[in-house]
Amino acid sequence: MCGIVGFTNRKIQAAPVLLEGLSRLEYRGYDSAGIAVRDQDKDTVVVRAKGRLKILEEKTNSGLSVPGTCGIGHTRWATHGEPSETNAHPHVTEDMNVVGVHNGIIENFSELKDKLEKNGYTFYSQTDTEVAVKLVDYYYKKYQGGPIDALAKTMVRVRGSYALAIMFKDYPGEIYVARKDSPMIVGLGEDEAYVASDVPAILKYTRTVYYVENLEMARLEPGKATFYDLNGDEVKKDTVQIEWDAESAEKGGFEHFMMKEIHEQPVAIRDTMNSVLTPDGHIDLSSTGLTEEQIRNFKNVTIVACGSAWHVGMASQYVFEDLVRMPVRVELASEFRYRNPILGEGDLVIIISQSGETADSLAALREAKDLGATTLGIVNVVGSSIAREADHVFYTLAGPEIAVATTKAYSAQLIAMDILAMEFAYLRGKMDEKKLLCMTAEMRTLPDKIQQLIEDKERIQWFASKFANAQDVFFIGRGLDYAICLEGSLKMKEISYIHSEAYAAGELKHGTISLIEDGILVIGVMTQNDLYEKTLSNMVEVKSRGAYLAGITNYGHYEIEDTVNFNVYIPKTDPHFSATLAVIPLQLTGYYLAVARGLDVDKPRNLAKSVTVE
Ligand code: M6R
Repeated sequence: MCGIVGFTNRKIQAAPVLLEGLSRLEYRGYDSAGIAVRDQDKDTVVVRAKGRLKILEEKTNSGLSVPGTCGIGHTRWATHGEPSETNAHPHVTEDMNVVGVHNGIIENFSELKDKLEKNGYTFYSQTDTEVAVKLVDYYYKKYQGGPIDALAKTMVRVRGSYALAIMFKDYPGEIYVARKDSPMIVGLGEDEAYVASDVPAILKYTRTVYYVENLEMARLEPGKATFYDLNGDEVKKDTVQIEWDAESAEKGGFEHFMMKEIHEQPVAIRDTMNSVLTPDGHIDLSSTGLTEEQIRNFKNVTIVACGSAWHVGMASQYVFEDLVRMPVRVELASEFRYRNPILGEGDLVIIISQSGETADSLAALREAKDLGATTLGIVNVVGSSIAREADHVFYTLAGPEIAVATTKAYSAQLIAMDILAMEFAYLRGKMDEKKLLCMTAEMRTLPDKIQQLIEDKERIQWFASKFANAQDVFFIGRGLDYAICLEGSLKMKEISYIHSEAYAAGELKHGTISLIEDGILVIGVMTQNDLYEKTLSNMVEVKSRGAYLAGITNYGHYEIEDTVNFNVYIPKTDPHFSATLAVIPLQLTGYYLAVARGLDVDKPRNLAKSVTVE
């Protein structure tokens, strides 16, 4: 995720402080960086670099070649536009009147860009940030009400999430900030003021901070911060003392990145869906480059991926086939590439990959292209190999994922695939407009439902603590629930090192049931109402052989409490979306088991975050 640092004072050079602050945010992942520094009344100097922060440090002689006591800095994780020096922040207006950095996503940036173009603005980058900066400039010049007025007018016009730090030519030594749904803090030192997207960036300099609230703005001067609401009225607030050490600050106060990322899922899926859902509830896939005609004409869909991304494919197969009524195959990339697949024109091959660099998935993509299929990458990392080589890309907007065990990227991929299935169904005449609008409206409720499930995590912690010494665990489910079980089982294996297997519940009797003995934990996922009773019967079968049962089902199936020893209820939703909800308690179970066993949750043994070898 992008990072912001800003600093103003009267004596100390700002650039080295900005670079130091940005280095504290490197763990979050980024693809380019930049700083803008102002020396008194002189023009602001902007330096940007693609790649590691080291390159920016070299370009600026560790900040020494950019004199000035006031500045802003940014590490960028690309969302709009590839990683490049041009797209890196800070962004500027032509006359350098406004210079700014931004975290978050401006959803209506193309509409705002059109408006600005009509008013004579031109654009040099592909970013939504340049649009935001120029919109501030537009309001600043048009209404001449000063920086806070221009920022407030911008905030009313933009949709999406943002943390903005801006410098105005007419206000040397000052930094202006605004925030909505993207974190931002302001720090104070003696005759110094700081702004940052995250605590670690400024922890070395100050522990006295203000939290900028949603839809609030602030004006920073050396040693002083003044806060404003959207009306431009001053807001009084108290400072908070940060007690965290640097390491826990990086994790946002969570013990592990995995837990932080579990908590980031509502935002990850909201951002992903908002990138393609229109305000009136339709779907606009134009950012992927796929045309409506192409979508109407594909004959088959093949989904290729590895690990959890393959599990997303397995879940999507049920959703796609059910909604679109077209054949969908799901393939492990490592198998697909070596088995001479039968593909050609009319085939759509979807490659799902968080990193966009997984060697087998990349090879499968190349194979599919060679055979004449159209390829679509569902990718989280902008500018990654799969994103560059696929014919079309649907970016998941989960932000950088640091824990090896994927959580938020998996959930964002599920949402992306659900959206694709809905649009395919709609354009191919398998879903009417009423149903589409009903499903997109329901989809918008998922972030809150996920939040609700995460808030109940203590119950799962208690449950997991009972099984810290388990040797084997089985997950069973049917249909879409089986696909969720695959992910639940992998989460458990990879971080808690407990052997586990996911089984299609109806397959148990064909061999695996012989492994069930006293005390073995069997987790049943039963969110598909039409299959609920069948899986419940399979649960009863293993119970009678001594298994301890945990059940995950929808609110309303309260009779399950007569059968299982522990249960989690999932908020009601469209059955096609239930994977997105049911996976949350499974992620939490894997996590708490690993913690209870004292394991390195974020870096499990033998595993790498990005598997770039076969
Ligand atoms: O970057 P990718 O999505 O292509 O990675 C695929 C798998 O390596 C990945 O999902 C892996 O299974 C995770 N460790 C699961 O948590």
